[in-house]
Amino acid sequence: MAFTIAIDGPAAAGKGTISKAVAAHYGFAHLDTGLLYRAVGARMLDGVEPTLAAQTLRAEDLEATNLRTHEVAQAASKVAAIPEVREALVDFQRAFARRQGGAVLDGRDIGTVICPEAEAKLFVTASAEVRAERRFKELQGKGSELSFEQVLAEVKERDARDAERASAPMKAAEDAVLIDTSELSIEAAIAAAIEEIEKRR
Ligand code: C5P
Repeated sequence: MAFTIAIDGPAAAGKGTISKAVAAHYGFAHLDTGLLYRAVGARMLDGVEPTLAAQTLRAEDLEATNLRTHEVAQAASKVAAIPEVREALVDFQRAFARRQGGAVLDGRDIGTVICPEAEAKLFVTASAEVRAERRFKELQGKGSELSFEQVLAEVKERDARDAERASAPMKAAEDAVLIDTSELSIEAAIAAAIEEIEKRR
């Protein structure tokens, strides 16, 4: 049986962690769709034209080790505003969503554009300050010297670009359940997500 769980929201709100935990809980496959845009962004930084990069994206490209960097995140959000790039990635995401055995997809437009028919939709969010704080700590752990203010400015810049673009902007589907993780522990956020999904099973 196919059962699709769509999890959208801004960067560092916890949707990746929640998605992985939800997929493990139900034994579903998980696709972090941000990786698709990051892989296209990384190829753009290597000089490949973004639409061509999206049209020729291979599974191996998602395993590149440098996709989690700041530069690639910013490049991803730039290529993600190009309608032809988004179009080239639709079929792969939809096929993944309808696979037998169930799927969790996380991103920005899963509940609105990729899988409007998803059985369960969550929009995971948190304040920009809380998200920047989480990113800041993560980056510090990796030896980054960016200041909190720089990280906050980048979080806000990426939010604005993702929410204001004309093509599939980041927004909650009308039938999505909102989970604000600003004041939730990881465990509480995962429990809240599973509780909502259970109502739709
Ligand atoms: O989630 P992540 O931070 O990896 O996403 C990187 C960028 O990819 C986002 O800032 C956004 O611009 C883009 N993206 C998107 N649609 C998705 C997933 C990610 O536009 N479904």
